[in-house]
Amino acid sequence: MLDPWNGSGTTTLAANTLGHSVVGLDRNPVASVVAQLRCKVPMNVEPIRFSSLRIRASARTQNDPLNYWFDDITTARIRAWTSHLEHASPSNRTMGLVAAFRAVRSLTKYFEGSNPTWVKRASENEERLCFTHSEIDEAFFSEQVFLASRLSSVPRTSASVSLLTADSAALPLATNSIDIIVTSPPYLTRIDYAVAYARELAVLGIDVFSEKTLRKALMGTTLTRQASMTPSLLGPMAEALLSDISQHESKASSSYYMKQAKQYLNDLNSGLRESARVSKPGAEMHLVVQDSYYKDVLVPLAEICIEEAKRYGWELQEHEMFPVKRLLTTLNTSARAYKKGDVSESVITFTRRKHD
Ligand SMILES: C[S@@+](CC[C@H](N)C(=O)[O-])C[C@H]1O[C@@H](n2cnc3c(N)ncnc32)[C@H](O)[C@@H]1O
Repeated sequence: MLDPWNGSGTTTLAANTLGHSVVGLDRNPVASVVAQLRCKVPMNVEPIRFSSLRIRASARTQNDPLNYWFDDITTARIRAWTSHLEHASPSNRTMGLVAAFRAVRSLTKYFEGSNPTWVKRASENEERLCFTHSEIDEAFFSEQVFLASRLSSVPRTSASVSLLTADSAALPLATNSIDIIVTSPPYLTRIDYAVAYARELAVLGIDVFSEKTLRKALMGTTLTRQASMTPSLLGPMAEALLSDISQHESKASSSYYMKQAKQYLNDLNSGLRESARVSKPGAEMHLVVQDSYYKDVLVPLAEICIEEAKRYGWELQEHEMFPVKRLLTTLNTSARAYKKGDVSESVITFTRRKHD
């Protein structure tokens, strides 16, 4: 079973618990670490203490992305923890990193606003947070204890689990090798997943604010790449959506917003094409997608997925629709200016055509 947009690994964990060999892939390295913890770390892993840890006087915190939220002393202590984890066992390293994600997130709540997918940064030195070594050590230890207690209720099977940091547009998998895909791609809702995980990525040493490679690579990103200027190979429904967006009266619709939507649709298309390539003839694909709105223009993502997937040899078996009550896009106050209808979430089942 494959999930090419694996997130924290809910699908891969469920399939593996049922005894299936699974491959979960995500372009965001934070997702792979969380999925490793959920799917691979054994039940009996013991939390580790770093009370004996000595921080080298030369520990550098300059240019450390944790400095966006913490002062130098606190940053040095957190970095000492993550460096120490590099020498721990793979299970302790994974659990330690997820504990660090959780601890850093809870210590930086001050920088969260009403939008759960955006985090502010300290605007000046005085705003950077300061914690004592023992406060940091305690936060990291208690998060490990919490994670270990959650792990103990998860049964493990002997079926293989492979969790990869890679791009859904270029799957590092053999042609005709997958029996079933269960997945949910990012939607066209302009959520910047890299910024949403800026603090966890900072723990891994990745600065999403100054180094834009990851931000640009993620599907649905609000940043546009040069490559999106290449002519698209989209079907009529996707092209009609792009035309509706570009003709919208609001500012930048025909420039930035059209380009961003086109980039998203091209990425979706590449993911569906790659999913077809790696699947065996007769394989199943189950997609969960949600429609949305651009201003007052409906984004019929389920119908677009059906049309695009068919072009790569996926035959539609079933399309079930469920009403969606609360939308993430309505958190954006400027988006509320337009009247929108109800949208639905779809579960779409395909099979891979036996003969091309
Ligand atoms: C909607 S979330 C998936 C949620 C997941 N199915 C779960 O239940 O936890 C979409 C995921 O796609 C990932 N993603 C975005 N662009 C990607 C790309 N180009 N290749 C692979 N994964 C990507 C994001 O990092 C995010 O974790």
